[in-house]
Amino acid sequence: MRRIRKAVLPVAGLGTRFLPATKAMPKEMLTVVDRPVIQHAVQEALASGIEQLIFVTGRGKTAIEDHFDHAFELEATLAARGKTDALQTVEATNFPPGTIAYVRQQEPLGLGHAVWCARHVIGDEPFAVLLPDDIILGDQPCLAQLLEVYNGLDAPGANLIGVEGVEPEMTRKFGVLDIDHWHEDGVSFTAKGIVEKPEPEDAPSNMAVFGRYILDNSVLKHLDRQESGAGGEIQLTDAIDASIRDGVETLGHLCEGRRFDCGSKEGFVLANVAYALNDGVIGPGLKPAIKALVDDERS
Ligand code: UTP
Repeated sequence: MRRIRKAVLPVAGLGTRFLPATKAMPKEMLTVVDRPVIQHAVQEALASGIEQLIFVTGRGKTAIEDHFDHAFELEATLAARGKTDALQTVEATNFPPGTIAYVRQQEPLGLGHAVWCARHVIGDEPFAVLLPDDIILGDQPCLAQLLEVYNGLDAPGANLIGVEGVEPEMTRKFGVLDIDHWHEDGVSFTAKGIVEKPEPEDAPSNMAVFGRYILDNSVLKHLDRQESGAGGEIQLTDAIDASIRDGVETLGHLCEGRRFDCGSKEGFVLANVAYALNDGVIGPGLKPAIKALVDDERS
């Protein structure tokens, strides 16, 4: 098994579900409490031991690059005013030079295409993919949980995918894994296939893919074909399915923690409430206020 050093973060989508908020601002810059959604994913990747982040960006996404850059004037002003806490918060968004690479997806042709755009930077290594829309609140970073499982595998190469059980009618929103057999730990299974957005009656299981993957490099070879799948987009799911057919061991793993889909309005609002309640400073005061709001709504 080769060590996972690189993570791809595709951020080139249009974010149409959040218009008009995303007309002039990337959806990844919408904030969950005090930090942009994208920062949650970046912190998770770095806390999991990832050394290089590869952002796949598109038009109108420069705010993301600026966010993870030095802000000299701001930092100098905060330092001059003795605002040490604020300065530390800003400095935490700067990483050693070369930690982040940006590649551009000129047209949003799908998630698979976005990952393929990063192929030269990925090179010939296995790699992680994090969809920043999904943020996970829990004790151990979700990607770290996957890496722990991955590092314990015997296979020379493998795909390992974060999954969660969904209601049957929800399968049409996700990639869904076809289970070969569950492992003894009760939280991992070997998959024999994966389908993108199946109708409930066609879904091979209710084990849905969310935005955390560790992928064998051979997946890129399948993406080279540039074949369109569900919704006319080049799907990562189809390339993973092709690699399963090639014999690459592929596992689904139920991660611990509560996942929020910040790509949807409901998930985004819920994430803000959950992260705010979890915040040691604002959480205690918010709890009765939110409860009062809900009670008012009921009456
Ligand atoms: P979504 O399916 O959420 O699409 O993409 P979207 O365009 O971002 O948002 P909506 O549906 O219009 O509101 C899932 C992930 O894949 C990336 C997105 O940035 C997001 O992280 N993506 C999707 C790309 O990078 N390129 C694409 O061509 C499509």
